[in-house]
Amino acid sequence: MATCIKTIPTTPFEGQKPGTSGLRKRVKIFQQPHYTENFIQAILDSIPQSEGGAKGATLVVGGDGRYYLDETLQIIVKLSAAAGVSKLIVGKNGIVSTPAVSNLIRKRKATGGILLTASHNPGGPDNDFGIKYNMSNGGPAPENVTNQIYEITKTIKEYRTVDVPKVDFSQLGTQQVGGGMTIEVIDGVADYIDMLKYIFDFDAIKEFFKNNKNYKVLFDGMNGVTGPYGYRLFVEELGLPESSVMRCKPLPDFGGAHPDPNLTYAHDLVERVNKEGYDFGAASDGDGDRNMIIGGNHAFVTPSDSVAIIAHYAKDAIPYFKKNGVRGLARSMPTSLALDWVAKKQGLEHFEVPTGWKFFGNLMDAKRCSICGEESFGTGSDHIREKDGVWAIMAWISIIAYVNKQSPGSSVHDILQKHYNIYGRNFFSRYDYEDVDGKGADDMVARLNDKINSGEWVGQTFGGFKVKTMDNFSYNDPIDGSVSKHQGIRIIFDDTSRIVMRLSGTGSQGATVRLYVEKYSDKPAEYANDTQEALKPLIDVALELSLLEKYTGRKEPTVIT
Ligand code: G6P
Ligand code: ZN
Repeated sequence: MATCIKTIPTTPFEGQKPGTSGLRKRVKIFQQPHYTENFIQAILDSIPQSEGGAKGATLVVGGDGRYYLDETLQIIVKLSAAAGVSKLIVGKNGIVSTPAVSNLIRKRKATGGILLTASHNPGGPDNDFGIKYNMSNGGPAPENVTNQIYEITKTIKEYRTVDVPKVDFSQLGTQQVGGGMTIEVIDGVADYIDMLKYIFDFDAIKEFFKNNKNYKVLFDGMNGVTGPYGYRLFVEELGLPESSVMRCKPLPDFGGAHPDPNLTYAHDLVERVNKEGYDFGAASDGDGDRNMIIGGNHAFVTPSDSVAIIAHYAKDAIPYFKKNGVRGLARSMPTSLALDWVAKKQGLEHFEVPTGWKFFGNLMDAKRCSICGEESFGTGSDHIREKDGVWAIMAWISIIAYVNKQSPGSSVHDILQKHYNIYGRNFFSRYDYEDVDGKGADDMVARLNDKINSGEWVGQTFGGFKVKTMDNFSYNDPIDGSVSKHQGIRIIFDDTSRIVMRLSGTGSQGATVRLYVEKYSDKPAEYANDTQEALKPLIDVALELSLLEKYTGRKEPTVIT
């Protein structure tokens, strides 16, 4: 037991409501006296009794190495000791990727985990920090728990702490603090690599590289947490040259970069792959759960296609699925329908859930979903309960090795075209309008909701597209019966084309409007067309119907993916 617990009076801070993925705010906000302590106390007090509560708990703690990690780790130590937590499992220097934390929680049968990351948001003293709680299944806390955390932050009057000397997280090993709590500092990479070895056929991949000595891979760690994972995997395990990795040192400010793997923010990778003749390029985000896959000669795998292609090859190319089978597939609502075509062809159950990885967890726990993905560069499977960037990259390398065994010389571009030849192509793109005026964005959504209620657009044709249905997506969780309403405006056309609009739940400043457009083609002559050109008519319809420019004042999006 902690020897001397001190009770510190505090007052609530506004806005400590966990969003899609925990609490994300500017570092300066977290640095306010008591701010971080209040939130950590609220987490500890919200660990459900059904999961054992904080007293006697084992918690995994890890972050992506961003600025303010060190200070937060020390706060977690003190408050956990005071709460009677029995053990903290912490990565060396506090660094563990989000998927690796999920794996550790499951593997070590921990009570839960605290993740210190703002994912793909920029880091550093003037940027973002974040704190998120994951449950014993390794997945993000469900809404009843995050609501409980929020309720506590609104009325908190005190937090409990103990005086302990600063803990050194740079040495592996076990130490005791605060009179009774154990801290185990572990190598955050080792268990994760073991997990990958269980899932993928490393020998087959090595053989592919041995037989294709000129096949060049470039992995971009974006100065985030996956650098050490990528280095260990590609250079040390798979034996690829050092020129196969870039930006692999985690930096507190990600080197000033925006650690989000898409064509805009990972343009260094894109440029190098195209200029230096790489065959395969991949990047992961700040905390390692997102991924981007590209091929040589400007081939880009849109995340919606990526999950569909992984699902298509899973049972043949990946031992984990060969062994366990593929039970079902799932995607978030704005993600394209490409995955649905694979599910239909393979006779698998498939689900459409709201945006947010947490919605996949119930389906996986109930063994009804094996592979899932989101358009927001998230792909994963039921091996853990977070999306997993390095896993997705390994899945792609496995597919490349498998396809090349049958048809030597197949490029990423060839794999995409082959897929379209079987299923048709869903052209897909997302337009982001970041940091727009919140009132304007709300008014725009309110007007679209009015159009849903009046039904006046249904049956009408705009720019050649006839509206079949229009709604605000609502999800009934088939496992626990919970209902999530208002998850995004959908305009669905006769030919399965779709326009989706929703407001981001992860921004830390202003509102972000996301516009998703999708158009299906089963005409082989169109499969190699440029995405933006193919979608232009539908994008024009979206802008016309939503009056986006009028409501946001924006002519152009901030980012197109
Ligand atoms: C995080 C979650 C994803 C989700 C994304 C949506 O990355 O982990 O599951 O798709 O946020 O973000 P948004 O900004 O669109 O709400
Ligand atoms: Zn992330």
